[in-house]
Amino acid sequence: MAVVHLASSGHYCLRTLAIAAAAVTTAAAAAAAATVTVGTVASSAISPPDSLGSAAGINYSPLAEMYAPLIKYHPDELYFSSSVDYMWPHYTMLNGDGSPVPGAPSPLNAGNVDFLTRQGKDASGTYLSVPGSPAGDPKVGPGDSYLYVGRDLGTSAPIYAFVVPKDFAVDIYYWVFSPYNLGKKITGLGYVGDHVGDWEHIMVRTLNGAAVSVDYNAHSGGAGEGSLKADDPRITWSGTHPVAYAALGSHGLWPTAGSNVYKTIAGVYKLVDECGDGAEWQTWNNVTTINYRQAAGYTGSLSWLNYNGHYGNVGDSTCWFHSLVGECKFSDGPGHPNRDMTGPPAQVLAAPNSDDPDHSSYTFYLSASAQAWGSAPSRNIRYVAVHQHCGASSSRRETDNWGWTAFVPGTALQKYIVYTNRCAKDAARYAASYEVALCTAGSEEGCASRSGLRELREYNGRSVSRDKGVLVVDVDGWSWNY
Ligand SMILES: *[C@@H]1O[C@H](CO)[C@@H](O)[C@H](O)[C@H]1NC(C)=O
Repeated sequence: MAVVHLASSGHYCLRTLAIAAAAVTTAAAAAAAATVTVGTVASSAISPPDSLGSAAGINYSPLAEMYAPLIKYHPDELYFSSSVDYMWPHYTMLNGDGSPVPGAPSPLNAGNVDFLTRQGKDASGTYLSVPGSPAGDPKVGPGDSYLYVGRDLGTSAPIYAFVVPKDFAVDIYYWVFSPYNLGKKITGLGYVGDHVGDWEHIMVRTLNGAAVSVDYNAHSGGAGEGSLKADDPRITWSGTHPVAYAALGSHGLWPTAGSNVYKTIAGVYKLVDECGDGAEWQTWNNVTTINYRQAAGYTGSLSWLNYNGHYGNVGDSTCWFHSLVGECKFSDGPGHPNRDMTGPPAQVLAAPNSDDPDHSSYTFYLSASAQAWGSAPSRNIRYVAVHQHCGASSSRRETDNWGWTAFVPGTALQKYIVYTNRCAKDAARYAASYEVALCTAGSEEGCASRSGLRELREYNGRSVSRDKGVLVVDVDGWSWNY
């Protein structure tokens, strides 16, 4: 019996998990390799994880400060970031049709902006609005000069760090607020997508108090560089702080300087984030640490986080190119930052299985709820499956592999290791995503409930690669609608 301490003994640390059974042995791995698609049992019981709510009383500030990013603005930046508080004197709460929200306090502040949500109402259709519809190319009008936050404020502003303990990892979502987002210049159209208010973030994943990956995001819809291992050479570290380049005008966060294309519209218009080595913001000097609450219910100085509406004016949708581009020159302010942070990052990190290149190895956890579902006797679940999906040079050539291991009944978080064949060799195939399933028999048809795919992002120590047999250790316990 091995006892593994998954949390070191710092003051921000959380939990100790006892792994009851031995991990997979070399012999078991060899047997799995020999039996090809049907893997061997390699499972162990783990004590139940703390729920998210258990984070409430813990002081995570030291952890949040340790990994807070060094943000580098573009040398030509005009719209630096600020605190949220900076904008209260300029905001009025309006409905989508421009009418005032009845009963909205004036002036708004961090303690009263959630007046609707506090009464159990939904503020999601409301807009914190400034006078007019300031749009810039790149300058906004003289009456809107407060939207230009200067460099001094921009390099001393607070960063909002939501700390989210999960089954094993403690994920820290660093959100940055800016009063104004300058849109992108599109040839023939001019500036598109200017908006009041801007929320951008990166996420640092920690295990045992150590940073293991950084998830870089830019703009909505999951664009951006995505998850990188902490030792990925694209990340520059300033001590314990990952460098994040804030894109000129629009603040999307990237690991590297230069031109980062994040979207192509209608096959023609490229939206580009320009990043460079301008003013440096040492965000760790001003971290607002937030113990994340998925259902809000924040109190005191954090009660503004209960407000679930927009942080800028309603946009224009009447321009001729709206149907083409989806935006006009002036677009909607962003939604609130207390978004769902309970899921896994956009990608699961994987490495090439260099020890056994003919197979993939998946180490993962079924959540307590998945275990409970599978343990109901009437369901007769006997196997846990991994379904590996292989991308290819054309979608017609994509293939799949399946592997199984015995289901271990129980109602606590449970570890499994499952092997599959590698992706087939021709047509440039690579392991692209995987899902898990609960099955009555060791066959695809025998799988009574499948999770849905998680994307794999592979890393070979130098750059992103695409191997056929991968090693995956996924610390996000699986749960889904069974
Ligand atoms: C943190 O930000 C607030 C709001 O902008 C500011 O008043 C304060 O001086 C900042 N603190 C530091 C240490 O920069």
